[in-house]
Amino acid sequence: MATKKLFIRTFGCQMNVHDSEQLEELLKEPGYARTESAKDADLIIVNTCSIRDKAEQKVYSQLGRYRHLKKTNPHLQIGVCGCVAQQQGERLLEKAPFLDLVIGTHNLDRLPECIARARQTGRPVVETGFRKAVPSIGIPTLPAKHTVSAFITIMQGCDNYCAFCVVPYLRGREESRKFEDILAEARALAARGVKEVTLLGQNVNSYGISPGGGRSFAELLRAIGGIGGIERVRFTTSHPKDLSDDIVACFRDVKTLCESIHLPVQSGSDAVLARMNRRYTSADYLDRVRKLREASPEIAISSDIIVGFPGEAEQDYQKTLDLMEKVRFDTLFSFQYSERPGTAAVGLDGKVSPEEKRRRLIELQALQDRHTQEKHDRLVGRTVEVLVDGKSRNTPRDVTGRTRSNKIVNFAGGGELIGKTVRVRIVEAFLHSLRGEMLG
Ligand code: 5AD
Ligand code: SF4
Repeated sequence: MATKKLFIRTFGCQMNVHDSEQLEELLKEPGYARTESAKDADLIIVNTCSIRDKAEQKVYSQLGRYRHLKKTNPHLQIGVCGCVAQQQGERLLEKAPFLDLVIGTHNLDRLPECIARARQTGRPVVETGFRKAVPSIGIPTLPAKHTVSAFITIMQGCDNYCAFCVVPYLRGREESRKFEDILAEARALAARGVKEVTLLGQNVNSYGISPGGGRSFAELLRAIGGIGGIERVRFTTSHPKDLSDDIVACFRDVKTLCESIHLPVQSGSDAVLARMNRRYTSADYLDRVRKLREASPEIAISSDIIVGFPGEAEQDYQKTLDLMEKVRFDTLFSFQYSERPGTAAVGLDGKVSPEEKRRRLIELQALQDRHTQEKHDRLVGRTVEVLVDGKSRNTPRDVTGRTRSNKIVNFAGGGELIGKTVRVRIVEAFLHSLRGEMLG
């Protein structure tokens, strides 16, 4: 049987990127192989994100572009997976009647069966029920040969209900994957030659506290840290309220755990943090940062910040800038607050105007750019370890990789370096990357 072609377009976070990898793995059995061109595809899957309104709108405009491909290829099937599918369900068919599949976040494992059902009946299939013991947590993926870095899902869902966030409604309750299954996947990846793993979950720090895991996240980090061949371990995302001393200690004790953490703060104002239902204060956050730096002095800290949450007054916003000055993040993802249907923040007053949100965001990003550049400048002249992950896109004579602190470094070198860890002296610092020279 000729191979059928699968085109996947992914929106959103690393969780979604990995969900797409898992879908690709699942669809190998019924004979699909991935293509980079939507025009050639027998099946187009749009894996969607609805964290902010903009993300959701992008999904709709993209779907509009695929619609006309059905005219030239009447066998083409088009499916929507992920958060927008979960949120909209049947309603998506009103907006996009040409869809064949709408598959929510708990039903990815059913995709092969749904594709066949849609084909047989000639009618769209919608699957958006929530399930316990979600079988699609962590479908082991076998990455292509020479893959340097891979993701491993360790938990899914979120029980935190931050007032701005749709994730708990769309990804369901927290559920941890079995300890042994995670270790088995990490060992299989190491055997395949993977050098770096990133453990994924909406709130990895509560791994094991949520049903399913049985052992703590710190225990998991120590176990993964002991697997031969895995040179680097990372994880994302962490909730500051759950970053225990035990986890912090791993940054000192687990040698393969990289000096880098993503620790979303969201705001520097205690009043705003309380309204966001984050359950920590700015002092708690600074205390976690202090402990992290005690355990691992070189640790790079990145964060997420929202500006213009309802009720954020100028003085609250100034407190966020103060916190940024105190912490000096390595990198920051910052967003204008975007109201999401069904979340607690919908009912809050004190809406901030779009112009004001924009002003705050631009100013805050300028401050962060100064901090990022200063951090990068300080690395000039220093020697760092770089795990090479590929050829540079722009300059074919260069390779690109990352430091343990997750900074991008480009330097002259050939493809044989891919997958190797080399020592590189930093010679130039830019805002988004560093330039280096490999040492012999
Ligand atoms: N508006 C703006 N940003 C949001 N985020 C989550 N929900 C919203 C929202 N409604 C941001 C948070 C989170 C990141 C993944 O996206 O900062 O940490
Ligand atoms: Fe959303 Fe908060 Fe859960 Fe993160 S911790 S996914 S921001 S509800």
